[in-house]
Amino acid sequence: MSKQDYKRILVTSALPYANGPIHLGHLAGAYLPADLFCRYQRMKGTDVVYVCGSDELGVAIMVRARNEGIEPQALVDRFHPVIEAAFKDFGMSFDHYGRTTSTVHAETSQEFFRTLAEKDVFKLKTEKQLFDPEAGIFLADRFVIGTCPTCGNENAYGDQCENCGSTLSPMELLNPRSTLTDATPELRETTHFYLPLGDFQDRLEKWIGTHPEWKPNVLGQVKSWLTEGLRDRAITRDVPWGVSVPEDVAANMGVDASGKVIYVWFDAPIGYISDTKEWAVKKGDPEAWKRYWQDEGTRLIHFIGKDNIVFHCLMFPAMLMAHGDYILPENVPANEFLNIEGAKLSTSRNWAIWLHEVLEVFEPDLLRYALASMLPETKDADFNWTEFQSRVNSELADVLGNFINRTMTFAHRFANGKLPELKNPDELDKSVLAQMKTFPERIGTAYDHHRNRDAVFETMALARLGNKYFNDAEPWHTRKSDPQACANTIHVSLQICASLSVLMEPVLPFTAVKLRNMLKLTGVRSSMPEGNDGVGWDDAAGSLLEVGHKLGEAAILFGKIEDEIIEEQKSKLGAPETAQSEDAPFESLKETITYDDFSKLDFRMGTITAAERIPKSKKLLRTEVDLGFEKRQILAGIAQHFEPEDLIGRRVAVVANLAPRKMMGLESQGMILMAEDREGKLFLMESDGENGSVIR
Ligand code: 2FM
Ligand code: ZN
Repeated sequence: MSKQDYKRILVTSALPYANGPIHLGHLAGAYLPADLFCRYQRMKGTDVVYVCGSDELGVAIMVRARNEGIEPQALVDRFHPVIEAAFKDFGMSFDHYGRTTSTVHAETSQEFFRTLAEKDVFKLKTEKQLFDPEAGIFLADRFVIGTCPTCGNENAYGDQCENCGSTLSPMELLNPRSTLTDATPELRETTHFYLPLGDFQDRLEKWIGTHPEWKPNVLGQVKSWLTEGLRDRAITRDVPWGVSVPEDVAANMGVDASGKVIYVWFDAPIGYISDTKEWAVKKGDPEAWKRYWQDEGTRLIHFIGKDNIVFHCLMFPAMLMAHGDYILPENVPANEFLNIEGAKLSTSRNWAIWLHEVLEVFEPDLLRYALASMLPETKDADFNWTEFQSRVNSELADVLGNFINRTMTFAHRFANGKLPELKNPDELDKSVLAQMKTFPERIGTAYDHHRNRDAVFETMALARLGNKYFNDAEPWHTRKSDPQACANTIHVSLQICASLSVLMEPVLPFTAVKLRNMLKLTGVRSSMPEGNDGVGWDDAAGSLLEVGHKLGEAAILFGKIEDEIIEEQKSKLGAPETAQSEDAPFESLKETITYDDFSKLDFRMGTITAAERIPKSKKLLRTEVDLGFEKRQILAGIAQHFEPEDLIGRRVAVVANLAPRKMMGLESQGMILMAEDREGKLFLMESDGENGSVIR
């Protein structure tokens, strides 16, 4: 179905865990992109419902509560309001923001579980699992840490190694220990419900095949999961916090449900359905949720960060397919990760920017604009305070704010604060008005295709157009030499301001309202839920103000940010993970070798002339290296560290006499040398020596 054929849109953002406040990394992944999209769609007049809520169940919540010595309920009762308030202050336009501890959610999850059990979807498996004899509970997921079997990281979690990214099960960890008591776990037998994802592989592959338009980063991850082959996933846990497994359902399958809860990654996406149900009740039409979840005319879009791709593109869709009453997502536009000041975001090291704190210093629109311009849409991106300052000062203040201010000032001084008539417009006036017409479509298409950085760039392009036009038209000269030309400039500039006040709404919703107040432009549709009808997105192509329209007072929309304020923000950051922390050990030296051993190695300088990813390999890049006397194809395990295009033209040191090796069906004819720091970051070894130079 093409986008235009849908009757309505249902948008979800990943439910944030209520075990801490929201930071910029969250916003850049699942929240700001969704809000931009929803606000745009509402301005466009589309029927859109946007739901989200706090993810209050699961082991992550239990671990933090336990660390603080409080009950999980007390923890989520503390963080849910903090998260909700910060979202509101940032301008998130949810139609409903719920919580997974609600009764509606427990019922919805249990109903879902029951239906799948009745359809005989689940498998049961009885196996030995890690049990903490001191705490008296089974150690699921993050309750156990140990050594990663893949990379040797000694603090890998029971569900994932954060060092190498491998997905793990608690039983795979070497030397496991309980995070609760530090005890060495025992093995005890328990029975769990499994979702046999492998049984859905064909259907999922076919369905994913119908979405070649999804973002390449999403399709890439999904395809690699599919290539690996989907495995059964346990969807129950023996922990005391979560939605209980329905007793009768379990009993019918010969299982005692006591102490068993539904796995958080089974219930959390069902939270989207629960939230939609709660929204429908709130709006006085309890059945309305069904249209959004069960009618093929709904375009369902899940906004998430890249760590949630497998759950939203494979596991939840398999659950929806198995249930049978629901539609599948039309898109899952996952974003990559946001780094902070060049280093990986880390909440434990406070290398993070907390939303509620930053909103005490800056207007939400400044943050929305800067962040939207830096979103990690195709690859990880960096948020840094210097760029934030320059986006605000040289784009918002110097371009957008300046254009609006000069226009308003001129209109008040030389047109009595009213919109003057446009008479005998010259070529410049006509061309600018014609260009203005194209912006709703240009900006809108970018939003609709989840290219938010482009959308924001295009929005600013309209302000730049206005500014340039104002400069070129020189109304400060024509005011005396040709008053009608001056009036025409004011007319056209004010119409651009009015269009901007509509088109800036998604990214700068608070400023858009201020600007419309300045212009006394009324009757514009709201981009908030349940908005009024009125002047909308497409109307911004034309003239929104009538001749003689009386303007309001001019006010400065954006002040400049001083260096001290920026320095203060930087100083709030903790220690980055890439910093060589003093306690991190250097790798120990290898045993001593003789000069003869060393002289067997032939190191040469070369230049990378081509680099590309290798399909189905997460780690390898294929490069071509010019060694002066010949060209080599060299495969390097650096795909997670470098973008292929960034490597081209780089000088490298190569082990040139290493016997060729085959990997992924390709021959590697040497090895590129890299320096690896204590955090595992890789650096090329560049030099000025010509290609082919011997390194001794
Ligand atoms: O990764 C997370 O933060 C999860 N709480 C996201 C859940 S998304 C959904 F499925 F609810
Ligand atoms: Zn690992």
